[in-house]
Amino acid sequence: MKKTNNNIFKKTLGKFTTGVTVVCVKQNNIIHGKTVNSFNSLSLNPPLVLFSLGNYSSSINNFLNSKYLTINILSKKQKKISNHFSQKKPSLIDIDFADGKYNTSYISNCVGNLECKLVDKIKKGDHIIFICKVINVLYDDKLKPLSYFNSNYY
Ligand SMILES: Cc1cc2nc3c(=O)[nH]c(=O)nc-3n(C[C@H](O)[C@H](O)[C@H](O)COP(=O)(O)O)c2cc1C
Repeated sequence: MKKTNNNIFKKTLGKFTTGVTVVCVKQNNIIHGKTVNSFNSLSLNPPLVLFSLGNYSSSINNFLNSKYLTINILSKKQKKISNHFSQKKPSLIDIDFADGKYNTSYISNCVGNLECKLVDKIKKGDHIIFICKVINVLYDDKLKPLSYFNSNYY
């Protein structure tokens, strides 16, 4: 094994295949979304999930100041949406949203959607871990998920 550095650390993590999600909060009727693949399940009882966001993110304050959010698990057909929400100045594309129950918005036609209450935030390194209690869910059995491996979509 080699001693790690920024570059090979990133490269090695890229060998772990993940799904792709967009986390969304809504403030003053404006939706703020970020593409994240650090999403994971945490607990079944109570139903908890987590994701982490860089403390340098242009949207970090929107997430820190929100009580509720949605986590949208993208389908293979939603690569454009992933690219859109990983940009600092998102490109102009039409995205269909639906309203959640707690002043949230979720992305239509996803493999799955979770409406969550933010229950904890933990600062570690240059990221903040958001721990969320899942309240409402929706899924589609027919759609195929978008995957991410080695900086490429599959
Ligand atoms: C597939 C994919 C997964 C990503 N996962 C994360 C993540 O888990 N956490 C994170 O902070 N940024 C993640 N990013 C980067 C953010 O989407 C975004 O590009 C970054 O935060 C910089 O933009 P910002 O300053 O506007 O937030 C990911 C990007 C891509 C394309």
